[in-house]
Amino acid sequence: MKYQRKLLAGITGYVPGEQPEIPGVIKLNTNENPYPPSPRVLEALRNLDTEHIRRYPDPACSRLRRAWAERFNLPGPEWVIVGNGMDDLLSLAVRAFVDPGDAVAATYPTYSLYEVLCGLHGARMEYHDLDDRFGTPESLLSSRARLCFLTRPNAPTGVSATREETAQLCERFPGIVVIDEAYVDFADDHCMDYAARYENALVMRTFSKSFSLAGMRVGVAAGHPDLIAEMMKVKDSYNVNAFSQAAALAALEDWAYMRACAERVRISRDRLREQLTGLGFSVPRSQTNFLLAVWDGRPSARELFEALRERNIFVRYFPVRRLENALRITVGDDSQCDALVAALRDLLCK
Ligand SMILES: Cc1ncc(COP(=O)(O)O)c(C=O)c1O
Repeated sequence: MKYQRKLLAGITGYVPGEQPEIPGVIKLNTNENPYPPSPRVLEALRNLDTEHIRRYPDPACSRLRRAWAERFNLPGPEWVIVGNGMDDLLSLAVRAFVDPGDAVAATYPTYSLYEVLCGLHGARMEYHDLDDRFGTPESLLSSRARLCFLTRPNAPTGVSATREETAQLCERFPGIVVIDEAYVDFADDHCMDYAARYENALVMRTFSKSFSLAGMRVGVAAGHPDLIAEMMKVKDSYNVNAFSQAAALAALEDWAYMRACAERVRISRDRLREQLTGLGFSVPRSQTNFLLAVWDGRPSARELFEALRERNIFVRYFPVRRLENALRITVGDDSQCDALVAALRDLLCK
């Protein structure tokens, strides 16, 4: 294509999971929550009127920033920025803190969007391989890159770096440490307090998973106000629409509802892990709402993925190093998980 920029020639855009419009599909491929959002979300949306459509939304997302700061005992709303999904915030972090040509560190494997964002920015990924049990590699601590993404718990492995390892990284890494906590509400602990403890830490969350608001696209980052101010410079003026702001605020205010849904998912996750292990998969203990089911037998993991798809059961398969023998399976409700297990049992003739 004669109009293409040189930079884009070598880049493949991020490939999101499929969103099939098939009635009765069992969709376990994009880590959505099987439960609906808090009833307060719909109520808040119903309370909006045409003025909220006619006028621009609050460009600063003031109410949501304040509510987030209060919930996590951050000194004030200037410690928080809201994005159009966390993906927006990840992109802002790269654009605010990385120069073209700089190195950006991350573990491997991890969330593959980071590499795309770096590529689009002319930055280099510096990967540090997870150890054999998907644990955090020592080498990450001696990286001199400009920014580091630590997905905690990690995707697509489900395994989490400890709080101690994360603290060490913030202390020893010379640049910005983005702690991606997209799945942390399904984990045993979190690092939101590191936003105030370390001047180089940016702790990011999404409303897409535990709050069941993937369609609304809202994410939050917390960090020192100097960092937040840099990201504010780069963002689109009105990056979060009025409906999304209202929905996220209502969801945040119903914290107990979110916790109850997350707890149900955690129970189903541990049940599904046992069932998959019983079928012969090797499944690392997950701190997220998905499981990485490693399968070295026949049919291959890719063949299983395709056969499940034919039965309208969608899971995720990544044809890349260290993941070619694995399926990433979102934890659905128990009936969805049971349907998946029954299909696998059939496919594996067990
Ligand atoms: C590790 C990780 N970080 C960030 C995101 C982005 O979430 P959002 O839907 O808020 O853009 C995802 C989404 O799947 C994710 O897996």
